[in-house]
Amino acid sequence: MCGIIGYVGSQKASHVITEGLKRLEYRGYDSVGIAVRDGNSLNVKKDKGMVEEVSNSLDFVSIGGTIGLGHTRWATHGAVCKANSHPHADCKNSIILAHNGVIENFVELKHELEKKGHKFASETDSEIIAHLLEDGIKSKTMLESFLSSLKRLEGSYAIVAMTSAGEEKLFVARRNSPLVIGVGKGEMLCASDIPAMLKHTKTFVPLEEGDVAVLSRDGYNIYSLEGAEVTRKQITVDWGLDIAQKGGYPHFMLREINDQKHFINESLASDVTEGKKLIDQHSRIDIVAAGTSYHAGLMLSYLLSQTGKSAQAFIASDYSFVAKPNKDTLMVVITQSGETADVLQAMRFADKCKKLAITNTVGSSVTRLADCTILMNSGPEIGVAATKTFTSQLAVIFKLVFPKEKLSNLSQIISQMLEQEDAIKKIAPTLVAKENVFFIARGGNVPIAYEASLKFKEITYIHSEAYPGGELKHGTLSLITNGVPVIVLAPSDATLSKLFGNLKEAKARGGTILSITNDDSIKNESDFSIPLPKNIDPILYPFALIVPLQLLAYHVSVLRGINPDRPRNLAKSVTVE
Ligand code: F6R
Repeated sequence: MCGIIGYVGSQKASHVITEGLKRLEYRGYDSVGIAVRDGNSLNVKKDKGMVEEVSNSLDFVSIGGTIGLGHTRWATHGAVCKANSHPHADCKNSIILAHNGVIENFVELKHELEKKGHKFASETDSEIIAHLLEDGIKSKTMLESFLSSLKRLEGSYAIVAMTSAGEEKLFVARRNSPLVIGVGKGEMLCASDIPAMLKHTKTFVPLEEGDVAVLSRDGYNIYSLEGAEVTRKQITVDWGLDIAQKGGYPHFMLREINDQKHFINESLASDVTEGKKLIDQHSRIDIVAAGTSYHAGLMLSYLLSQTGKSAQAFIASDYSFVAKPNKDTLMVVITQSGETADVLQAMRFADKCKKLAITNTVGSSVTRLADCTILMNSGPEIGVAATKTFTSQLAVIFKLVFPKEKLSNLSQIISQMLEQEDAIKKIAPTLVAKENVFFIARGGNVPIAYEASLKFKEITYIHSEAYPGGELKHGTLSLITNGVPVIVLAPSDATLSKLFGNLKEAKARGGTILSITNDDSIKNESDFSIPLPKNIDPILYPFALIVPLQLLAYHVSVLRGINPDRPRNLAKSVTVE
């Protein structure tokens, strides 16, 4: 949901910011903009479109100056157009800022500012912040005005702002939207995410909720909203610059699918001791997540229920309407970004119960609301569609339930399934022109069918649905006609014989069957089949099943001319409800 970056140092800011925006683009990509201060003038270039296209056509890097800020947008308030693109300025073009988040009371503030004579150039909620600052600096310093303006905002924000006059400083703040300071030598940065700053530093300070900071070439100061100076922990990452690059693959998504064979071991190394204790201590487990992470949540609920625990997975955005957590409830939240607004809202709603978070993001908002956090350690995921973070979530979840030894050959299983890529590439053309695709599975493989279906529709724009196989006959079978693809997740486990029956039902109606199986009778009934290894522990089938289905979605997407890294209308970190 929007990426923001700020730079103050001795290098050409337009260059640093444009490069950083390319790495932040996965957070939003409908418009992009940059502002650089040169002497006492602010130069702004912005338009709708992706970073590469807009930065080339407007020649971002031609702007001189060594302090600036940039923004890549995922529209919330106002259409996708040049005027609504960030950065936004006050009436006099003397204050400029980029904002990520949603200002909930912006209508009221806008009316108030309009009455005072402020003229607005966009329909965005963000622009009001520039005008509030303008109002404030009539009688206050920029920092005082920044603090008093922030106090008036309801909602979420990560902000970077600067002025055209006075000392060259960046004013930054965060509340419910991520913002990290990058500490360089003679230069300071801030950005929504670490990879955008890796070229300049490996030392970072993740800001906490309500923090305000002032960055100059010499360093940074962090304040509370009340203006008291506070100290925050610096962290050092050992990531190479290549972690946020495609590494020779045509897309981040393909790299990330392939990287699963490595990161699965990092995730298996995560410390789940405290998490296990919390689960043991509670009689009821509510699992809360969204999208792909919800599918990982369904898996956890399935595994815990198998052990006799009372566990249920909830869609985060609906949790407050349907659940009644109490003090005996343990809430387990699963979120790779750690910033998903729906999840944060559910955590605030469940104020009486203990919370365990499973996330990929150190210092993210969920970690602050949780009593205990398990870090997935899957490295940054740039492709908008979650792939490696899903298998990492599964690894952590399985480790919460099974002894580690049971999971030791996961990397090998994933490698084996990645070897099926050529076979999958041959199947992909048969799906390219389809309108509907169905996925079926049973038992513990159903969450994988849901996830495969989400991945497929998200990046191919082909409608797809997933069901427990037994459900087809209760309605959906009416949609299975000649040539409709039915993808059957059929490992040889306890689900096989019933699933075989469901496959036959679909086949009898003319469905084209694609199976992923290690069972010969299923394979013989299929039009296409992807082999599963024969000699693996049945509990590990979910890992083997999801990898070829991620690859299938990827290759169909590419064949349809879609960029799988940036599916339309979506963004990586969903910080609005
Ligand atoms: C789909 C996808 C999304 C996310 C969802 C939750 O490929 O990535 O469905 O899983 O937006 O995000 P997190 O895990 O960051 O809470």
